[in-house]
Amino acid sequence: MSRSKPSKKNASRTRDQYETFPYPARQAEDEDKRLIAGSPGDWGEVVHYIFGGRDPGQNGAPLRILVAGGGTGDAVVMLAQQAQDRGANAEIIYIDLSAASRQIAESRVNRRGLKNVTFVTGSFVDLAGQYGPYDYIDCCGVLHHLPDPDAGLRALTDSLKPGGGMGLMVYATLGRTGVYHMQEMMQRLSAEAAGRARLDVGKSLFEGLPPTNWLKRNPFVNDHIQGGDAGFYDLLLHQQDRAYRVDEVYDFVEQAGLRLQSFVEPLRYDPVVYTTSAPVRAKLAGLSSRERCAMAELLAGNITKHIFYVVKANNKTRPVEISGREKTGKMLVQRQDLSVMVPYLGRIDGAKLAASVAKNAQIKINFNGFSLTRALPPASAAILSRVNGHRSLEDIRQSFKPLPEIEPFYAQVAALFAVLSAANLMFLRHPA
Ligand SMILES: C[S@@+](CC[C@H](N)C(=O)[O-])C[C@H]1O[C@@H](n2cnc3c(N)ncnc32)[C@H](O)[C@@H]1O
Repeated sequence: MSRSKPSKKNASRTRDQYETFPYPARQAEDEDKRLIAGSPGDWGEVVHYIFGGRDPGQNGAPLRILVAGGGTGDAVVMLAQQAQDRGANAEIIYIDLSAASRQIAESRVNRRGLKNVTFVTGSFVDLAGQYGPYDYIDCCGVLHHLPDPDAGLRALTDSLKPGGGMGLMVYATLGRTGVYHMQEMMQRLSAEAAGRARLDVGKSLFEGLPPTNWLKRNPFVNDHIQGGDAGFYDLLLHQQDRAYRVDEVYDFVEQAGLRLQSFVEPLRYDPVVYTTSAPVRAKLAGLSSRERCAMAELLAGNITKHIFYVVKANNKTRPVEISGREKTGKMLVQRQDLSVMVPYLGRIDGAKLAASVAKNAQIKINFNGFSLTRALPPASAAILSRVNGHRSLEDIRQSFKPLPEIEPFYAQVAALFAVLSAANLMFLRHPA
């Protein structure tokens, strides 16, 4: 593994790489056809994981959002567009070392006519504080390229508002088996080569790999095949790159004074889904949530990146969860009556989901080659077809004919929410 010591040389190599190969490769014209939305940072997810189901943009309050290491603009375009669509009073600050990447990001934002973005070229480690404090910071695929990731995360924490949070992505060690073998071979063969010359050596090395090589045997990474030259370079030829195991993610977060709210998707980090053995499941039940996540990573083997949301260590807000009140049996979300909550869907076509659930009251979920099926309660399809992001659960109940009984209806809602929220497919928002 290339765990180089922090140095100015490594930092400038990182900048040089992204000047030559802005990543990921994007074209402004494609903004006419589609919006790329993803984790971390999708607005609905941020509301769920960081703000406990309360949309911070909903009453016109001014919001500041930082995209740290914004690259060619995926997160900045997504957040700026989603803020505008919601009428949020948000300013999004983009910071990146690479002027070439910024040019692409800026052209995408301009193509959409978005006016809520400020572009800055430089290191967020030095500059984040000047433009904050922030309600939300998005830092996807960047911290693991810093000469000192711990210091980088602390710098971001310092510029976060007390109630704010961050969506982060760092590489995961086990799913990237073979990537660091390739990086090490490049280091041994061609440590100083950069840019095109490095790409040429890397490609001939890759083309001649024997079938037994771990990279050749790893089906979970494919950016070097699908991502063009920028993808090949970013995955295999990087000179400043490290990966994390679950325990290292926890340590990383805690040293910065943060608390891990959740990995995404939560179900992927539930070890029980990967084993049918009853004795193993019984042992897993006794583990802490950190241990359970670590076991999930070991069992699954296919986690190539860790996506997770964090808040300050003393922030008590939790992701939305449905619980029952003991005496009355009433269902609550963070002390509020469940019936007033507004359900909304993640990145999934609600009509298609409802149609497929209607067939057999189950859902098949695929995580990078591992698929699992979950049974859903009988009213799931009918409920899902009524979710539009605006109606409350009680409005949805009232729209059924005949009117369902309160308790069984909300019991089905709770069972549906438990499955879909763990897969990042359904969330609940408090009313405005
Ligand atoms: C792998 S790309 C990820 C881009 C983007 N976040 C995404 O997910 O599409 C990493 C980006 O981080 C930027 N970067 C690395 N270190 C940085 C730093 N200290 N300050 C600002 N940008 C940085 C690079 O220039 C590059 O554009």
